[in-house]
Amino acid sequence: MTSILVPRRQATTGLLAAAITPGVAPVQDLAPIMLPAPRADFGCSLAQALKQRRSQREFAPRPLPPQVLSELLWSAYGVNRPATQDRTAPSWRHARETEIYAVMAEAAWRYDPIAHRLMPHLVGDFRAQTGVRDFVATAPLTLVYVSDASHMAGVSPEEQRRVGAADVGFIGQNVYLYCASEGLACVFRASLDAERLAHTLKLAESRFIGFAQTVGYPKG
Ligand SMILES: Cc1cc2nc3c(=O)[nH]c(=O)nc-3n(C[C@H](O)[C@H](O)[C@H](O)COP(=O)(O)O)c2cc1C
Repeated sequence: MTSILVPRRQATTGLLAAAITPGVAPVQDLAPIMLPAPRADFGCSLAQALKQRRSQREFAPRPLPPQVLSELLWSAYGVNRPATQDRTAPSWRHARETEIYAVMAEAAWRYDPIAHRLMPHLVGDFRAQTGVRDFVATAPLTLVYVSDASHMAGVSPEEQRRVGAADVGFIGQNVYLYCASEGLACVFRASLDAERLAHTLKLAESRFIGFAQTVGYPKG
């Protein structure tokens, strides 16, 4: 398996570099992963993607290449109007409160849509803790959808949960359509221990987890 971990003292672009041992290296030793630009045109037609969209729960362990990771995250929640930094998914009152954590074999990363990069968050393999089914431990990627309540000031916690869930739902459908259009498998999931996972990922107090989405190549 090719490592995507890049020691900070090495390249800050590109994904090929010497590996850092998971669980040993401090996160500050990791450089951000600068994702390649999404291709100008990718995927199949919208009609085809809608026809093919479905949930799949069996994944090959092979990691996603950088170009796929780039286009997946851009489709999910990337900037589609650079002048205003607006996104491919809508958000309640333009709050843009959702953060996407990409949990992969060697580390958990936070997607930075503005710079289109993955910021190192925690070194280690936390995939098994993103859900309750066995497949989450071996699928190459789980996107953990985190809502930052500090972007939703002035409304009740119940309302924050309600609108947070709606906003994440749009992102989840973007991911479903990208996966359908590129032959990837994915499943949007409520089945996770949100409190425990937030603790594991050392999320700040204002942040809560609603859902996750596991992505990979279909098995077989
Ligand atoms: C809000 C929500 C939560 C879901 N949670 C889970 C889950 O925890 N585990 C799972 O395997 N599928 C989960 N799913 C996927 C559904 O089971 C799936 O969409 C449904 O069975 C219909 O299948 P389809 O997506 O292939 O059309 C969830 C879907 C939604 C929209």
